Amino acid sequence: QAIDDLIRALPKAELHVHIEGTLEPELMFKLARRNGIKLPYASVDEVRAAYQFTDLQSFLDLYYAGASVLVTEEDFYDLTWAYCQRAHADNVVHTEIFFDPQTHTVRGVSFETMLNGITRALSDALLKYGMTSRRIMCFLRHLPEADCLATLEQAKPYLERIHGVGLDSGEKGNPPSKFKRLFQRCRSYELPVVAHAGEEGPASYITEALDILGAKRIDHGVRCVEDPELVHRLARDKVPLTVCPLSNLKLCVVDNLEKHNLRDLLHAGLCVTVNSDDPAYFGGYMNDNLLACRAALNLSDDDVVQLVLNSFEASWLRDADKTRWE
Ligand code: ADE
Ligand code: ZN
Repeated sequence: QAIDDLIRALPKAELHVHIEGTLEPELMFKLARRNGIKLPYASVDEVRAAYQFTDLQSFLDLYYAGASVLVTEEDFYDLTWAYCQRAHADNVVHTEIFFDPQTHTVRGVSFETMLNGITRALSDALLKYGMTSRRIMCFLRHLPEADCLATLEQAKPYLERIHGVGLDSGEKGNPPSKFKRLFQRCRSYELPVVAHAGEEGPASYITEALDILGAKRIDHGVRCVEDPELVHRLARDKVPLTVCPLSNLKLCVVDNLEKHNLRDLLHAGLCVTVNSDDPAYFGGYMNDNLLACRAALNLSDDDVVQLVLNSFEASWLRDADKTRWE
């Protein structure tokens, strides 16, 4: 179909991808071998077979376990470079990558190690592909606020290389209000804020993310529809939603893609974008997500172009001085 060729050919921005979620089983095995780490799986096929999720937590358990193979700067480089190559194949020309320092610092991996590897791969992607990028440090919301505040303090020497902060991990029972002081401090460091909200959690978590955390962009946000006033506000204030359709399907946020509200939200005038979240776990990168939505929701050419325009509009690309050339 011509529209599917259009989807593949358009230059796109990705705004919601966890670098740890791009760890393909093949690389997981390679890094485990390199670092002498024993995995609870016999083969790549066994890993893939284990990716049957019933909710966000069932995924997070495997995602955090998988990340344990990331130890050296080279590991973070290889992970990030593999993602950049794959994103480039989808004509992603700008990417805003999440990383979860707390997943690594608890295992004794330093900020220096993580950030050097990630930054070097992103610099190579700029040189080789002209791909621009930003790095967003996420806090794990299942942990106490005090742990997150300590992580922010640890990050202080590296803030030059961190473009913003986010909030991820298990949403239920961990409302944005739990992190009021943390994000107050982030804002005092002039770090732009995004937050996962309204993925599994209620619409009120989206409102809290905006009002209490000062979020500029909402990750997922699909449960906003439960509060019509909030939907109106998101449209009026042009608050972007970084929606991840295949993720929502795999984590049972929706029963099937035909029922996804992406198209309705787009037609309601919200700045909706399509993203891959954790593509190695959910079976699809950027184009797979757009193609699946096009088929399931019967998206028009105009819908596709609007989604792609939104991805640039919602990006932090305008802060051109933040593109690092190192
Ligand atoms: N961490 C990685 N992927 C996530 C998601 N979809 N929701 C919350 N935390 C995450
Ligand atoms: Zn996410």
